Amino acid sequence: MAKGIDIGTSFLVGAEIKDGKEVFTVERDAFFSMPKEDFAEEMLDKSRAKYLTRGNTIYVVGEDALKFAMLTGRQKDYRRPMAKGMLNPGEEEAISMLELLIRGICGAPTYKGEVIAATVPASPLGEDTDTTFHRVVIERCLRKMGYDVKILNEALGLIFTENPQAKTSNGEVVPFSGVGISFGAGMTNLVVAWRAQKLFEISVSRGGDWIDERVAQMRNQPQSKVTAIKENPRKFRLDKPNPRDPIHLALEIYYEELIGHTLRQFAAFFQESNSVLEDPLDFVIAGGTAAVPGFLGKFKEVLATIELPFPVGDVRMAKDPLKAVAAGALVAAISHERKKFKQSEEGNKELGKLGTVVAGGPVPPPIDSAPVPRG
Ligand SMILES: Nc1ncnc2c1ncn2[C@@H]1O[C@H](COP(=O)(O)OP(=O)(O)OP(=O)(O)O)[C@@H](O)[C@H]1O
Ligand SMILES: [Mg+2]
Repeated sequence: MAKGIDIGTSFLVGAEIKDGKEVFTVERDAFFSMPKEDFAEEMLDKSRAKYLTRGNTIYVVGEDALKFAMLTGRQKDYRRPMAKGMLNPGEEEAISMLELLIRGICGAPTYKGEVIAATVPASPLGEDTDTTFHRVVIERCLRKMGYDVKILNEALGLIFTENPQAKTSNGEVVPFSGVGISFGAGMTNLVVAWRAQKLFEISVSRGGDWIDERVAQMRNQPQSKVTAIKENPRKFRLDKPNPRDPIHLALEIYYEELIGHTLRQFAAFFQESNSVLEDPLDFVIAGGTAAVPGFLGKFKEVLATIELPFPVGDVRMAKDPLKAVAAGALVAAISHERKKFKQSEEGNKELGKLGTVVAGGPVPPPIDSAPVPRG
């Protein structure tokens, strides 16, 4: 059965089908390094922590890394393999830790050549960097594990799950057509899709981490405190900020700036591309940064101030903003596996006529329980 994985700066989300249902595994994209001491490994084994030992250092990965950082107060040993949507160039253990985390989420393929679709960002606009290194490292890691790897843009994953539909002037309804935006931790990714094909993609290296950094700096507060307030709906809502609370004020300003900056970049890029779209396009948005209560309202408010070269249709939030991208990767993987299965079925028939056994391992069964893209 095919799998999907959304590889993000803050969280990794795995998606697969079990007993006919979509099942998600969420893991924090982080690790904690500590010196190897007597019995440390035995204790970690007993508590079923995910870790790796190298020389005299133990690396604990995922959610447990945050727990260790909080228990010990050693923030500097709490590290992240990714920054701004890609492998963290300043982190020497980035590749090995990300591999360990990915293995923990996906496990081994059920059969050799099982399809997995993994998400990557688009190259950030206006920056002298690209996604090639990040993409190839992920591709190789999953291939080494025995998967048939498909890579897709994370915002396109959103289009596959949410299925925005464009209505043309002659009344035709065109599925999987619209604008998808994923507001993550390290980046914001946007695609424009038409009939499930990516017309173009952009990303900006700003997301939830950027909001936390800016607010912490402007209000002279620890970043972890800002993050905790931002993520707690009892302490902050974007639709009801307390005007007398200086952190609330700063959060509101930077959320607005993140949305405005993304949409202005998008508008400028679209103008330059000379694309012509006369029919209205729907927007679907997702990502952890969009999960704050009131985000959709703020997004619509800012969108109304931006001049776009096409009419805007409906604007909505994904049903599950934190899992929508992983769910879309799963849709892509299943669809690819179905195609592969059909091909090998036809191949089998042809070869069967010749009385030959098809090499290459077992063929997956037809997937009846696959989710129909929602929308
Ligand atoms: N309930 C919440 N309310 C507000 N913010 C949240 C909430 N949950 C998560 N976040 C924020 O969302 C961000 C993580 O979002 P997400 O998991 O979509 O990012 P990612 O996929 O790991 O990163 P990227 O796609 O940029 O590489 C973090 O900045 C986090 O603080
Ligand atoms: Mg993401």
